[in-house]
Amino acid sequence: MTMPDASRSAVMLGIFSGLVSSTAALCWSLTGFVLIVYFYAYIHQNDKQDIVYSNHLVDTRKLEKVEEEEEFHFTPAKDRRSPRAIKRKGPRKPTSIIQEFLDDSSQVHAFFFPNKKTAISPIKEGNDSMHFYPGQLWLDTDGNPIQAHGGGILYDDNTETYYWYGENKDGPTYHAHESSAARVDIIGVNCYSSKDLWTWTNEGIVLPGEETNVSHDLHKSNVLERPKVIYNDKTDKYVMWMHIDDANYTKASVGVAVSDSATGPFTFLYSMHPQGCESRDMTIFKDDNGEAYIIYSSNDNSELHVGPLTDDYLNVSGFMKRILVGRHREAPALFKHQGIYYMITSGCTGWAPNEALAHAAESIMGPWETMGNPCTGGNRILRSTTFFAQSTFVVPLQGLSGIFIFMADRWNPSELRDSRYVWLPLTIGGLPDEPLDYSFGFPHWPRVSIYWHQRWRLPEGWRAEER
Ligand SMILES: *[C@@H]1O[C@H](CO)[C@@H](O)[C@H](O)[C@H]1NC(C)=O
Ligand SMILES: *[C@@H]1O[C@H](CO)[C@@H](O)[C@H](O)[C@H]1NC(C)=O
Ligand SMILES: *[C@@H]1O[C@H](CO)[C@@H](O)[C@H](O)[C@H]1NC(C)=O
Ligand SMILES: *[C@@H]1O[C@H](CO)[C@@H](O)[C@H](O)[C@H]1NC(C)=O
Repeated sequence: MTMPDASRSAVMLGIFSGLVSSTAALCWSLTGFVLIVYFYAYIHQNDKQDIVYSNHLVDTRKLEKVEEEEEFHFTPAKDRRSPRAIKRKGPRKPTSIIQEFLDDSSQVHAFFFPNKKTAISPIKEGNDSMHFYPGQLWLDTDGNPIQAHGGGILYDDNTETYYWYGENKDGPTYHAHESSAARVDIIGVNCYSSKDLWTWTNEGIVLPGEETNVSHDLHKSNVLERPKVIYNDKTDKYVMWMHIDDANYTKASVGVAVSDSATGPFTFLYSMHPQGCESRDMTIFKDDNGEAYIIYSSNDNSELHVGPLTDDYLNVSGFMKRILVGRHREAPALFKHQGIYYMITSGCTGWAPNEALAHAAESIMGPWETMGNPCTGGNRILRSTTFFAQSTFVVPLQGLSGIFIFMADRWNPSELRDSRYVWLPLTIGGLPDEPLDYSFGFPHWPRVSIYWHQRWRLPEGWRAEER
């Protein structure tokens, strides 16, 4: 059948317009389909996240379980004085548990430094695998005790690996002078690598001490403490800051070293008085925006100073704030959660343990407020001695918001190389237990809690990529 041109074109038009409308419909239905798929995937993804998240919650709750210990009852160490001395001076005065802890012949000391039989080893398969045992000897993948005291951890995005830097104290402990503190000669900064924060492989000494040149900052007769490493995205360098001192702690300086690789070798650049001030215990902190800061004990350890580093992280900038003035705090460990800065510090009692304090601030430059002792569980003595340890670093866990690892050193001043690591879960939440300086007693920040556990492990999903 043939049609007049006009009707034909009208039909064509109708077909065409039908085509147009059906294309539009198709488009709409496609869009709808895509939306539904997307929505479904979204809900499904949320389902999955909810499942993972609730698993996290169960495991996380375990970390927040308050584990109580009985009060300690120990028989004091034997009186090692001669019978004549005892007769002349009378019986030994009762000693405090901290004195007992420091006395390597005491039962208390033996309790807090359990022997090698109980060492935790990544080589030994078994039910201890992946479990942290605060205070127990901790071996590396070669079967040697980990030597990384006063340390800190860097997560390296480039290699997706954790690096633990700390003091190698594997030398004899001695006193340089009769009245001076126990010390070990500088051996260097050790580095260990791990993917799981539990199995640590020794990467060797990444910044060695100096054997012969007595005028060098790292000469073995000096002091190198609390090394910390951060990565500079702009210069592509790994930058190490550390406390540099002489044996009498009168130099009170910071040292800076730099490397192209996380596993070194690091080149020592110089030591200095930051902003012209003395600096002893210190740490550095890299903020989300790439700005880095140094925090150090100054003015005879009576206050802390905080100030930004230069863009290359190799120097301090001119700007500095005095914080926690007159509070005599050291061993600062800094971390950040939901835009708030937190810090754990210790008191200044040498190698002897003391009570930790948690602090919080809206700006890293202060004002910093003190929230009280974060230690939870254990018993009164464990809580008042930071579990017989001293803060050194707080490790964020990317996959678990609000949960961190608190890293501390249980110093053994009679044999410093045998000092132990106390790692415990730290969480943020709940009400602080000390009224704050600037908020008229109203709780301003959530409580920081460090939970005592004899044995614990990280909850599943603590890595960001598992979510
Ligand atoms: C490890 O597991 C074995 C067998 O299940 C058990 O006998 C042993 O007590 C466990 N050890 C610890 C420390 O839990
Ligand atoms: C010893 O160290 C100082 C300070 O770092 C340096 O100036 C000097 O050149 C070194 N001496 C030798 C012989 O390496
Ligand atoms: C440390 O002090 C002692 C005496 O207290 C002194 O003999 C020694 O020279 C000092 N050492 C340094 C490196 O200042
Ligand atoms: C660090 O910066 C200060 C000025 O803030 C400057 O005086 C000093 O020379 C710098 N140090 C180094 C090693 O560049």
